[in-house]
Amino acid sequence: MSPEHPATPQALRALIEQRRAVRRFTAEPVPDAVIRDCLELAILAPNSCNLQPWSFQVIRDEQLLQRLRSVCMGQQAAKAPLIIVVLARPDCWRDSCEQIIAQWPEPEVPAPIRHFYSKTAPFQYNQGWLGWRGLLKRQLVRVLGWRRALMRTPNSHAQMRLWAVKSTALAAENLMLALQSHGYCSCPLEGFDEVRLRRVLEIPRAAVPVMLLAVGKPGERAVYNPRLRFPLEQRVEWH
Ligand SMILES: Cc1cc2nc3c(=O)[nH]c(=O)nc-3n(C[C@H](O)[C@H](O)[C@H](O)COP(=O)(O)O)c2cc1C
Repeated sequence: MSPEHPATPQALRALIEQRRAVRRFTAEPVPDAVIRDCLELAILAPNSCNLQPWSFQVIRDEQLLQRLRSVCMGQQAAKAPLIIVVLARPDCWRDSCEQIIAQWPEPEVPAPIRHFYSKTAPFQYNQGWLGWRGLLKRQLVRVLGWRRALMRTPNSHAQMRLWAVKSTALAAENLMLALQSHGYCSCPLEGFDEVRLRRVLEIPRAAVPVMLLAVGKPGERAVYNPRLRFPLEQRVEWH
């Protein structure tokens, strides 16, 4: 394996093929060092404008896990020894813009970068109080869009949530594959009561719970069903 090609196609294929939604876990805890390593890989996911619109809550505390099991309506997979709550953060863009300029990894912040994060990005992502800026931008885009191609979203708070969820879902996949590489299995869960989840974990109002990841070593009959995917031809168009 050369540094340019750290993973062979075969190794990546094996890792991706090994990952299954596991619903029965042993009680064996996941070491913090493993969790940290996997989170480090999660946040290397590609993300919109590098604004990193995500956050994670790592739940190992037994009492909290018990409460989350009921939040997940008693789902078998939620009986895992570790649950990682994956949140999209459409509310963090302003802070991220400031951090990128403050933490730029070179002595000088290049002028285009400074301009983008101090002018362009705020214009793009600030939807204003009750979304009034977004409303204006939607009208502007309609007019300017007649003459040239331009970015038409996100121009509302709903579009901001979608914007953040896209990048966050990529981080979640990185996280699952990283866990798999350490020999831990996972199950993504969207079967939870969002209101109760927010209450139990004091999740900020603007954050979007994208999924919970149940994590651990696989137990007996851990995978419920054989793998099933539709034929590629059914879902791929080649042009
Ligand atoms: C966003 C999302 C939400 C999911 N929610 C649940 C869930 O609430 N409960 C569950 O048992 N599995 C859940 N799954 C797992 C899927 O059922 C599973 O990934 C799918 O059946 C394909 O199986 P595989 O992952 O083993 O290939 C979820 C998966 C995703 C991506």
